[in-house]
Amino acid sequence: MGTNNIVILAIESSCDETSAAVIVDGKVLNNIVATQSVHEKYGGVVPELASRAHQENLIPVVQEAIFSAGISKDQLSAIAFTRGPGLMGSLLVGVSFAKALAYARGIPLIEVNHMQAHILAHFIDAPQPSFPFICLTVSGGHTQLVLVKDHLDMTVIGETQDDAVGEAFDKTAKLLGLPYPGGPLIDRHAKNGNPKAFTFPITRMPELNYSFSGIKTAVLYFLRDELKENPNFIEENLSDLCASIQFSLIQMLLIKLKLAVAEHQVKNVAIAGGVSANSGLREALGQLAKEKNWNLFIPEFEYCTDNAAMIAMAAHYKYLKGEFSSLEVTPLAKMKL
Ligand code: KG4
Ligand code: ZN
Repeated sequence: MGTNNIVILAIESSCDETSAAVIVDGKVLNNIVATQSVHEKYGGVVPELASRAHQENLIPVVQEAIFSAGISKDQLSAIAFTRGPGLMGSLLVGVSFAKALAYARGIPLIEVNHMQAHILAHFIDAPQPSFPFICLTVSGGHTQLVLVKDHLDMTVIGETQDDAVGEAFDKTAKLLGLPYPGGPLIDRHAKNGNPKAFTFPITRMPELNYSFSGIKTAVLYFLRDELKENPNFIEENLSDLCASIQFSLIQMLLIKLKLAVAEHQVKNVAIAGGVSANSGLREALGQLAKEKNWNLFIPEFEYCTDNAAMIAMAAHYKYLKGEFSSLEVTPLAKMKL
């Protein structure tokens, strides 16, 4: 590798995944992810435990990324990190590490917005969407409709006013007695269930906005009533319950996506974020795209959930534009796109 190559080490530590990746001239070489299992028994991410696990995992994950890329630290052109949004303690681990490395090596520091990076995951591999496109970003912390005009030029055109859709998956899963994160488990059980077995409300918000807090309460009351009659109601109906909850969540996502695509008259549609790993959503979107003649872009599973490859991709575009941060940069728990 010569001195003209752009070699960036990227770090992701916004929530409960510690990840590092190396990108060379826009090509992602690896994506090392350490998933924190410590949260499973608590039914959600425990921020203090997440920070401690990042602290433990970060150096081994970075070392593996550097080693498996076959590079040494003195070949790095820049170091990138997730500035936000995310958990303050978790972000601090990544930000502090990145700052120290940039300072020690005298190389530029690149801050990345986690939500922008989820969208830029589409540029890791082919096929890549052409601009403009609409991206539905669906994760445990966010649900946004974004009009993407260029790699670094994005506008939020709609978003959730309360819970994120991933949160709705996880919280309803918890009501069903499933461990955290419940989203993938709902997905798995739903495959054997009837989506029309039970009806849960479809909340309609003004314009392109979403609300996912209502379904949690609806499921809570529904289960409370059914369990009074039959204490085994959940076990006996788990697949149908999962399929029906998933069906409502997907309907809500798609109603606004259709509206956004019609309003902005785009042909290219993408999804990003952890919930885009959901097989029901992928299937429904595939059908919709066929019906509407959209070009649909869905990232590889590996790049749907939190990962450093997407941070690396975003950092590459920022490097090309010379968008660097100073060593005074601090994490932001809330950060606009
Ligand atoms: O993007 P992500 O890894 O982290 C955040 O930035 O939040 O998303 C995590 C979310 C969790 O809520 C998880 O339950 C959900 O994505 N998720 C899924 C599936 N895989 C992950 N939800 C439904 N179906 C899945 N297959
Ligand atoms: Zn995420």
